Order: sequence, then C-alpha cells, then structure tokens
Amino acid sequence: MRYPGPDPASTDDLTPAIESLLPSLERFLRFEGPDPAAHRSAWYAVLDRPLPRTGAGPDAVLAEIRDVLIANGLRTGHPGFTGWVTTAPSTIAAAAAFAQSIASPMKYWATPGNLIDAVAIRWLVELLGFPATFGGTFTAGGSTANLLGIGAARQHAGERLGLDLSRDGIAGLRDPRVYASTETHHVVGRALGVLGMGRANLRSIPTDGSGRIDLDLLQAALDEDAAAGRAQVAVVGCAGDVNTGLVDPLPALARIAHDRGIWLHVDGAYGGFGLLDDRVRDLYGDVAAIDSFAVDPHKWLAAPVGTGAVIVRDENLLARAFAVDTGDYDRERDVVIAGDPGSPFDDIGHGTPDMGVDFSAPARGIAVWAILSEIGADGMRARVTRHLDCARLVAERARSSGELEVLSEPVLSICCFRYRPAGVTDEAALDALNERVVAEVRARGRTVTSSTRVRGRFAIRPCFINPRSGLEDADALVDEVLAVGQELSASS
Ligand SMILES: Cc1ncc(COP(=O)(O)O)c(C=O)c1O
Repeated sequence: MRYPGPDPASTDDLTPAIESLLPSLERFLRFEGPDPAAHRSAWYAVLDRPLPRTGAGPDAVLAEIRDVLIANGLRTGHPGFTGWVTTAPSTIAAAAAFAQSIASPMKYWATPGNLIDAVAIRWLVELLGFPATFGGTFTAGGSTANLLGIGAARQHAGERLGLDLSRDGIAGLRDPRVYASTETHHVVGRALGVLGMGRANLRSIPTDGSGRIDLDLLQAALDEDAAAGRAQVAVVGCAGDVNTGLVDPLPALARIAHDRGIWLHVDGAYGGFGLLDDRVRDLYGDVAAIDSFAVDPHKWLAAPVGTGAVIVRDENLLARAFAVDTGDYDRERDVVIAGDPGSPFDDIGHGTPDMGVDFSAPARGIAVWAILSEIGADGMRARVTRHLDCARLVAERARSSGELEVLSEPVLSICCFRYRPAGVTDEAALDALNERVVAEVRARGRTVTSSTRVRGRFAIRPCFINPRSGLEDADALVDEVLAVGQELSASS
C-alpha cells in the first residue's frame, strides 16, 4: 500500500487492506484445532511493546492484525461456547458494523445512520411488544442501559418533589434508595454510585424459595423506608437474572412500585429477548407497565459488542435526566429542518445527545437494523426458542443421567447443573470436583462454558445465546461434562 495523502496514515486502498484480512478471519471462524489464544506468552510479547517513534506502515500492521490478533482471537463465537452472557457477531452484524465505522461513523446529523438508529429503536420497541409511544436509545451495553434507566428514575423521583436533579444535583433527594433482589447484576449498584446515590443505597432484597425477589420482604423494606422518609427512587426487576435466568414477578413489581408512585426499571440485558418465546412470555406481564427496560443487542441478538439499548416510557424524561447544555459550536443540535436540509450537517437529525452519556457516539443501531432486516422478528423468535430448547435439553439429560444433577431448572436459556457421581455427598468435594470439571472442559476446547453458585453450590452454567449454537452443541456439552467428570473421578 502507498501513502497517498498529507498524512502518514493510509486513507485509501481499503479493498486490498480488508481483502488481506479475510482469509485469516474465515480461518478464525472455522475454530479449528486447539485454541491458540491459550498460549498467551507467544503473542503478549509481540503486541505489548514500547510506543514506536516512527510508524511501521500499513502492510506491517495488517500482517500483525492477520497473524497475531486474528490468529489468536477469542473464540466466543464457537458453536460450543456457552460461557457468561456473550457471543460474537453474526456475519451481517459484523458487515454492518464495518460499513457503519466507515460510512456512517456518527449517530448524529441527517444521515442514513442517524435515521437507521431511530428505526432500529422503533423495531426493538415493537419486537419486544412495548407500546409504540415508548422510545429509547442505544448505549455501549447493559451497564450503561441500566445506568440510563436508573438515571431516568432518579430524575422522576426529583420531579415528583419539584426538583430538577440533573441540573441542580441530588442534595434535595433525601437518603435515596433503589430496591432489587440479591440476584441483580452488580452493574445496577454501580449505576447508583455513578448517579451520586451510592452503591450502599441499593437495598438488596432476599429471594424467595424460587430464587425470585421476595415480594413480602420488598414491601416490608418499602414500608420501613417510607416511614423513615427516604426518597424511593426505583424498584428494579430482573428479566433473566445472570446466574440462573430467572424472571422476577414483574406484574407484581409493577403493581407494588406504581401503587407507591415509584419507578419500575427492569434489567433485561440478558433475558429481554425471552419475550419472544410464547412459552415464557407471560412471566414478563404487560410490558407497558415497565418504565424503563435495559436490553442488550450484543448478547442474544449477536450485535457487535458495544451495542446495548434502553427502552423508556418517556423519552423526554430521559432527555431531561441526561441533559447537556448546547455550546456555541454545536448550535445545529437545536435545529430541526422539515424536508431536505441544505447540507446534512445543518440538522442533527433524530435523537439528541441528551438521551445518554455519550456525545459523539457510533450509530449502534445500524447493526441491529441489519440483523433484524436479515432474519426478521420470526428469525429472532426461532433463535430464542432454539436456545430455550437447548437449556431444557441439558436439564432433561441431567435428570435422566445418574451422574448429573440439575441445580436450577431452566426458565430461559440457562441451565445450572453439576456432575455428581453416585455415592459422593460431601458438598465441598462436589464443589471442588465441578470446578475441576469446568476447567478441564474448557482446556479441551470442544465446548467452553462458565460457572456460578446456586444456593451455595458450585454449578456448571451454560447460557445459550450464540447464533451458531444448536441442540447438538447442548448435547456435546453434556457429553463432555460426563466424560471429564468420569475421568477426574476415576483418577482421584
Ligand atoms: C442481567 C445483566 N445485566 C447487566 C449486564 C451488564 O451488561 P454489559 O456487560 O453489556 O455492560 C449483564 C452482563 O452480562 C447481565 O447479564
């Protein structure tokens, strides 16, 4: 490649640059052979080097991207990967994100990306069954989506007292509290920290026998704090808790919260798309009763990492919660032009920088729009249904095997289970054995999964969200756990 312009960075020859990477990317996506990323000493030393004073030029960098970065990439897209709540983008998602990064890098101004972002939010609202009057915005992920939802709740709590907290600070909010079950993802606590309410003011409510938030304990906590004059900012429900995939009793939470004038925020970062499977749809109740809902397209929808979303009943309230004053240099932000603008830069287009914590931001909705254009609502419904079937298959196989035990019945696409050879009852020994099983299964690389604790017991925890995974991968995981468990038991 040559250096065409005034700058040392190449700005042309895109086709040869990208074409030179494609064979390595295709090879990576075949996930053949042992996982090279495990041999980190080989690539740490190559990549972690002093800042170069003079650049090596495009060809050298492309060669390293090809031979070191891609070749040692993390196989979260492998069909046998069921760890944590993550996967890799599908082909069209990756292609759309690539195109977006070049041709529509910003979500603002009257560009196709700006429009597509708004259309994609509208599609998500419709796909998940929210009323068309709901809106929202894309975020960097579930953490920020929860932050925005709870930020809107904080603004709402202030406005009930005649205060604008986003403008004036939260001093007027007396001892603010947010209520959520002990199973709630820790990013909710961080959101309170970032919003100045303090992580310690997340009142963690124990779960009932089913693992869902205990409604009696919640009401008692709400009564106690109301009597103490605390500001009650939000009740948070899980729609797919990260440990076992449980859905809190959302209709009851909505009733309890709204009877008291409190905001209901729901964390559906993982399980939001579970709404598409009629077998579990009722667990979510009427979504119109939810004030804000976090959902992560970079999880089950397999958008590129960096794509979350928050859906809200009232976009204007969200914009007041994250208001940013207009500067002289960006006064176009306040201009709305009906019809064609003279230049796309005359009008910031749909959405505003007020609805989040970014100012410059990628048009994240382009990947969501591309995915939904490719597979449609029915395609996504089929994926969710298949993944719920995968979790159910793991549970069935565990129940029918004498050596496995289900620790949490699947609700969505997670099934927690463990290897339990006949005669072993000591809990500490079972924990230690299963920890070794997970490590050895991962080391073999055919299937990779992760773990959690269920009622104190160490559990193997596959979470099926991967577009490349099907029932045969669920079967393969169970086979591998059995094989590894038997080997480890025989050798100990
Ligand atoms: C239920 C839940 N909430 C929030 C998050 C955080 O989302 P993110 O990692 O996209 O910031 C996760 C991540 O796994 C999650 O599963």
